[in-house]
Amino acid sequence: MKVETLRWIGDHLEMIDQRVLPLEFNYLSYYSASDVSDGIRTMVVRGAPAIGVAAAYGIALEAQANQDFHKDIFVEKMESAFKELATSRPTAVNLFWALKKMKDLFEDIVNEGSVVEIAEKLLALAHAIREEDIAINHDLGMHGARLLPDEAAILTHCNAGALATAGHGTALGVVRSAIQMGKKISVIADETRPFLQGARLTAWEMIQEGIPLTLITDNMSGHLMREGKIDAVIVGTDRVVANGDVANKIGTYMVAVLAKRHNIPFYVACPLSTIDTSIDSGEDIPIEERSSDEVTGFRGLQWAPSEVKVRNPSFDVTPAELVSGLITEKGVVFQPDKVKIKTLLKKVS
Ligand code: MRU
Repeated sequence: MKVETLRWIGDHLEMIDQRVLPLEFNYLSYYSASDVSDGIRTMVVRGAPAIGVAAAYGIALEAQANQDFHKDIFVEKMESAFKELATSRPTAVNLFWALKKMKDLFEDIVNEGSVVEIAEKLLALAHAIREEDIAINHDLGMHGARLLPDEAAILTHCNAGALATAGHGTALGVVRSAIQMGKKISVIADETRPFLQGARLTAWEMIQEGIPLTLITDNMSGHLMREGKIDAVIVGTDRVVANGDVANKIGTYMVAVLAKRHNIPFYVACPLSTIDTSIDSGEDIPIEERSSDEVTGFRGLQWAPSEVKVRNPSFDVTPAELVSGLITEKGVVFQPDKVKIKTLLKKVS
């Protein structure tokens, strides 16, 4: 089955409810920015590029829902939709990237044309952002696939697959592209505590396409590396900053340190929309802290004492020096640093 994380059906957005996978598979319907913002916050949709696409549709939906208002009121409602969506999750820069694209268009056209025309143009841009994401992932996937040997076991952390994007995936996009090239690739997935994106989502997604996968808990990767069972690590990212530091799902840093210790390449699949040069170093990336319930239990089952003190940072930062390469849609930046990232962005601007 081809995974379609977000789809536009007639007059509304549908998103796979990723909270209930793999036990249930269903789509939820969205009609306003507020609903989409809630879907992002509660992790119905997650993964940096998918969040960006969802936010773009959130803006398009809001415009559509307010088409009967006078322009002044319409503009007020749109302004508050932009603000609300921007507060849904803090770490993935794709959210802000997509909102900026939508805002730039909105500001360009707000004084021209009717509210209905504005709504149509915003929806067209949201569709384009979704299509572009899929195309980017295919390009990125091809660049990454060329790095892999003809036969390889790839460790991944979290879910950077079709479910985390509009389609194909970033880290798992590299796996898919390599398989399409005829390479014999298998995936080893960290379960990814506490939200279990690896066990629930990566495992489910790979099974849909019959891609061989072995699930491990987060504390097993060092052992497998030592046994020589992992040929490369490929992860996604929520934000790469000017010096090449990488924010990704909590636990990524640990895997990068282990990979270095074992001389295993550690690649980060990174669409250009995930690079944020407004921040110099990883220390300044906002790290989302999520609810303690995710650590003390899961789906209503509690295993830790109610009184226990909990930390639940949802992301960590891997310093650039541990990254063997950033795989982008425009090619691979080996051993990324400030100069190489600047050069890459200059080339594409
Ligand atoms: O909290 P999540 O599930 O949104 O975290 C997702 C990740 O950390 C992914 O690795 C990242 O967004 C890249 S997705 C292509």
